[in-house]
Parts: sequence; structure tokens; C-alpha cells
Amino acid sequence: MFIEIKNISKTFGKIYANQDITLTLHTGRIVGILGENGAGKSTLMKILAGYQPADSGEIWLDGKKADYHTPEMALAAGIGMLQQDVLDIGAFSVLENFIYGQKQSGIGFTLQSAHYREKLLALCQELGFVLDPQMPISQLSIAQRQQLEIVRLLATGIRALILDEPTTGISADQKEALFDTLRKLAQQNMTILLVSHKLEDVLALCSEVAVLRAGRLIETKALPVPKKDLIKLMFGQTMVVPQLANKELSKAPIVLELKDVTLHEGRLHIPHIQFQARAGEVIGLAGLDGSGQNLLLRACAGLVKTRDGQVWLNGQPMTGRSYPDFFQRGVIFGAAGRLEEGLIAGLTLAEHLTLVMADNKPKRSMFANFFIDRTEVQRITEEKIQHYNIRGTAHSRIESLSGGNQQRVLMAMLPDNPAALLLEQPTRGLDVDSAAWIWEQLLAKCASGTALVFSSPDLDELLLYSDRIIVFYAGHLTMIDQPHQITADRLGHLIGGVDED
Ligand SMILES: Nc1ncnc2c1ncn2[C@@H]1O[C@H](COP(=O)(O)OP(=O)(O)OP(=O)(O)O)[C@@H](O)[C@H]1O
Ligand SMILES: [Mg+2]
Repeated sequence: MFIEIKNISKTFGKIYANQDITLTLHTGRIVGILGENGAGKSTLMKILAGYQPADSGEIWLDGKKADYHTPEMALAAGIGMLQQDVLDIGAFSVLENFIYGQKQSGIGFTLQSAHYREKLLALCQELGFVLDPQMPISQLSIAQRQQLEIVRLLATGIRALILDEPTTGISADQKEALFDTLRKLAQQNMTILLVSHKLEDVLALCSEVAVLRAGRLIETKALPVPKKDLIKLMFGQTMVVPQLANKELSKAPIVLELKDVTLHEGRLHIPHIQFQARAGEVIGLAGLDGSGQNLLLRACAGLVKTRDGQVWLNGQPMTGRSYPDFFQRGVIFGAAGRLEEGLIAGLTLAEHLTLVMADNKPKRSMFANFFIDRTEVQRITEEKIQHYNIRGTAHSRIESLSGGNQQRVLMAMLPDNPAALLLEQPTRGLDVDSAAWIWEQLLAKCASGTALVFSSPDLDELLLYSDRIIVFYAGHLTMIDQPHQITADRLGHLIGGVDED
């Protein structure tokens, strides 16, 4: 599909999310849409996919002016979008979800589920996806949810596919598989837009790139170009890298400890885990998606049941306790799916901060929690917005903020001195600058004694920030005590179970 975006503008209150953007997209090409957090990428894509109207400007498809204002109409016109935070209906199965998607787009009301099942499996086979039609959505990994979303969109007959940050939350192998799929689709004349702030991804996949900054289209370029040129276009400057302090950790007190614990979920079984996290320490958990990293994080927070063994926190036995018990003692768990688990859609920024303030306040009287001092909330919210450089106002609904700004709100919600932070992919969806900023905040907490355990699909991030790395592979854990002495290649091999020495 040949797409012309002409003079598109969109404001939210005083913010220009898109300002007079004109961009042409050719049939069968893969175009990267780059820009830092809040640059306006998702806004432009949502306009293109019918999720929100532009204030002004036009969209032309194959030489004809398009007129649509819902995602269903955009689908019917041939444009489908994979959202940044893949939202689907939790309680349903893969097949039900697939069918629902077809019905939403007005296709095939009368067809039977056997027909859909065949269609789903055929598409999966063509693209090399493995999806069990019967499996509940809630049990799918991020990568699998994405695959389901892609086949669901393809089945409606789209000719342009928009992917908003599709590589956050999936492993290197899954990313390769996804990129292969996209290349295949482009060869079949699909026009593909890849929204990202990961330069590597754009360079690996796209033949051209459009760079947005502060709502404006800064430049379009044929690829490849040197990375540093792209960084300059994105930020208009060079980035900051946080400084790592030298640490003497072996004498620090043990905060969290798993003693001979077994973790079990579905087909995953990890016996005899011995794990310690000390005050001030940063432990990175590496592994392919679903290898147990996130299970370990949840076990350390009382969010999943452990078998055998014991869980200790600051010298106290905590085996079998629930998350509220851990939370009260300063253990904070942060999930990768921001909106699903960490933040609450529909609530504003100020309301989110109120929630944590109510939780952190000493409970002097039973009424303390019923009355909320609104001026105080407003003041603290303004302060946090400033301090955490959040682009939004106290009254912005959380789902209206860009992905990077949502992550900043989560940071603002953390207490000052938690005993332990257990974070799934703390910089998921963030551009390099924002990721560096988040790490600066996290390392500051560690410097004042917080133990940090995090999982990440980003090998460089693991190597750069971890004092120790634990590699999860096929039900075994391998400890790397000196991450600074190994390369990303070597770590990649360990994660994939390739043993070369
Ligand atoms: N529905 C909305 N209501 C209010 N402000 C919004 C809304 N949607 C976007 N914005 C604001 O518009 C600007 C652009 O946001 P957008 O989500 O398009 O950025 P982005 O480039 O996708 O960022 P990220 O990389 O963090 O996902 C941001 O300042 C954002 O807070
Ligand atoms: Mg976005």
C-alpha cells in the first residue's frame, strides 16, 4: 500500500504531539519511525490506524483520500496496528481472541469456529509461529501475544502493518524470528512501519527511517547511516551515561535469600535454587523469555508459591508469605507490562501518587486514610513531575502518557529506601536517554542500600549494570560473578545454551 501522510497535526492541551507532519511510505518497504520518548511516534501511528483523529491534515491511501475515524474502519481500508502495550482479552483462549478480532472487523459472522481454527493454524504455519488455539491468553508470553495479534491482523487482509515498539519484552531470538516474518511480509508487498527508539532494530530491519523530535518530523533518510548520526537526529545532542560506583559488596548484609527452593510453573522446573541478594547489590537475570527469570523475581516477592526450601528477608523467614507481607517490609515488585500490572488505566497521575502516599503514610488514626488532602497531593504531584521530568500534568490519565513517561511515573511511585527492588525489564520501551536516566535513579537507590534484582532481554544492559548475572537455561542457573569480564556474544551463547568452552 502506498501511503501519504499530509500535514498531520495533533495537540493534547498545550502539547503538540504531532506538528505538521508530511511523510510518504512506499509499497513493500519497511520504514523505521525513530524518536525519543514523547517524540510523537505513537500519536502519529494511532492517527494512521484510526485510533484517534488528527486535528488537521490528511491521509491518502493508494492515491485516494482516506476518511476513517475508527480502528475498524482503518482495518477495512487495509491498515492494521500492533499496539505498544498489546491489549487483549485475558480470560479468552487464543482461538476465541482470533475470532473476536475477525468479527470486530466485520468479517465472517456466520463462519464456524472450525474454519477459524484452520485459518489460524495455516497463518501460524506460514509464519513459523507456534500458538495453541486452546491456550488461555493469560498464559501467553509477550512474544506469543504479539504473534497472535499479528495473525489476527493479517487475517483481516491488511496491506499495511504498523508495529509500535514490538521488540520490547521479547528475547533476541524472538526478535530475529519477528524480523524474518516482517521481511517475508514486505516481500509480499506489505508496507511496514516499525516504531522504535532502538537504533539497532531500525538499522537491522528498515530500508529507510523517519526521525521525529518534539512532535516534528526532523528528517527522513535511506539506511544504512552511522548510528551516531541517528542519535544526533533523535536527541539533537549526545547522550549521558550514568557513572558506576565501585562497590564492596561481599560484606554487605544479605537482604533476600532463597535456600534450596524449587520453582515450578507449567513445563518449567528449576530445582535446588540457592540465591542471595545483598544490600546495594545489582543482580541481573538473563535468559530467553520464559526461562524462569520472572518466576524467580515473583518468588522473591511472595507472588508465586515456592516448593521445598525457604525464603528469607533481612534475616526473617518469609516462606509462604504473600506479597503484602513482603511489601510491608520494603520489597517492591515491578512487572514488565506497565499498564497491566503496575499502573491503573483510567486513573490520573495525581491519583496514582495518592495511592502510594496513602500506603506509605504512618497510619495515625483510622481516618487518616479516608481524607485526602488535595492541595498536598497537588503539590507533591507537581514536585514529582518536575523531579522525574514527566511529560504530562497532574490530571493526565496514565494511559495517555507515552510509554517512557509511564515508566517515569512508576519510578516516582517507588518509596525512597526500599529494602529490595525486583524489576522485570525496568527500561522496557525506553529510549537510550530515558533508560540511562532510570538507571541513574536505580543506582542511587542501591547506593543507599537497596538490593536490586532485575531481568532484561538486553545483554548490554545486563553487562553494564549488574554486579552479578544469573543465566537461566533449561532449568539450570549459572552465576557469572564478573560480568565485566565477559562479552555480549559470550552471554548470548550462555543464554541460548551454546557451550563453546
Ligand atoms: N491521549 C493523550 N492525552 C494527553 N497527552 C498525550 C496523549 N497521547 C500522547 N500525549 C502526549 O503527546 C506526546 C507524544 O506522545 P507519544 O505517545 O506519541 O510519544 P512516543 O514518541 O510514542 O513516546 P514513547 O517512545 O515514550 O512511546 C507526549 O508528550 C505525550 O505525553
Ligand atoms: Mg510510543
